[in-house]
Amino acid sequence: MSGTRADDRPLAGQVALVTGSSSGIGAATARALAGLGATVVVNSARSVAAGEALAAELPGASYLQADVADEAEARRLVAETVERHGRLDVLVNNAGTTRVIPHQDLEAASPAVWREILDVNVLGTWQVTVAAVPHLRASGQGQVVNVSSIAGERPSGSSIPYACSKAAVSHMTRLLASALGPAIRVNAVAPGMVETPWTASWEAVRTHVERTAPLARTGRPEDVAAAICGLVLSPYVTGEVLLVDGGLHLR
Ligand SMILES: NC(=O)c1ccc[n+]([C@@H]2O[C@H](COP(=O)([O-])OP(=O)(O)OC[C@H]3O[C@@H](n4cnc5c(N)ncnc54)[C@H](OP(=O)(O)O)[C@@H]3O)[C@@H](O)[C@H]2O)c1
Repeated sequence: MSGTRADDRPLAGQVALVTGSSSGIGAATARALAGLGATVVVNSARSVAAGEALAAELPGASYLQADVADEAEARRLVAETVERHGRLDVLVNNAGTTRVIPHQDLEAASPAVWREILDVNVLGTWQVTVAAVPHLRASGQGQVVNVSSIAGERPSGSSIPYACSKAAVSHMTRLLASALGPAIRVNAVAPGMVETPWTASWEAVRTHVERTAPLARTGRPEDVAAAICGLVLSPYVTGEVLLVDGGLHLR
């Protein structure tokens, strides 16, 4: 007998681009998809060293710096992914930003703040997806998973502009699933509070979640990555926004 055994991991031979994956949920997702056999492209806008270090850990992975809020950079990110790796099968739109603003403080949620948050969370998701669609179609098994938020599904979240941006991401998910089927599946996860650098100082929210959520703890990046992988591996699910909040929405 000669030859090597074929790689039977479910995403072997597939290429996955995870935006905003130098840290937190995106980094955990990049690791999880690599564990399923995908070749992963790690991305961030600013934290180059962290992105390069993660890519160096994952077999065959690369790092590409790009700000998804900039249309030309979003297009370049997708084009370079396909140039380097020959294809694109899975797009995870995870890059996001927020500002913590009490919901009653309307003046603080200035038009500039709205634009900054919508540019990254909504237009960033849109621009990378539009650039990716021809390649996802060519894949024959292409799919998108967006990272929304419980703030997009319930009236909550770090600020009103953030919550509205995530409501747009959730609705964009349903609209694109309808527009792009049967060639491409489009789903989203909507996390509750997850322990990342973003939420490190959110003591009051942490205590609330620990006391209130049925699962009695905040989320870990790996919890969200597991839900994303679940959607990636579910061939008959599209247009779904999966709450990943330890059951917090039930209370
Ligand atoms: N943590 C939570 O509780 C929670 C809950 C619900 C939803 N989410 C969502 O989960 C996603 C990830 O959040 P996280 O908590 O994991 O945050 P994080 O640890 O701060 O990671 C954010 C990532 O996004 C990148 N990023 C930010 N702006 C970008 C841009 N314009 N272009 C490309 N990359 C960009 C960051 O890299 P740079 O530093 O280089 O920009 C970093 O890699 C976000 O969409 C967020 O809305 C988080």
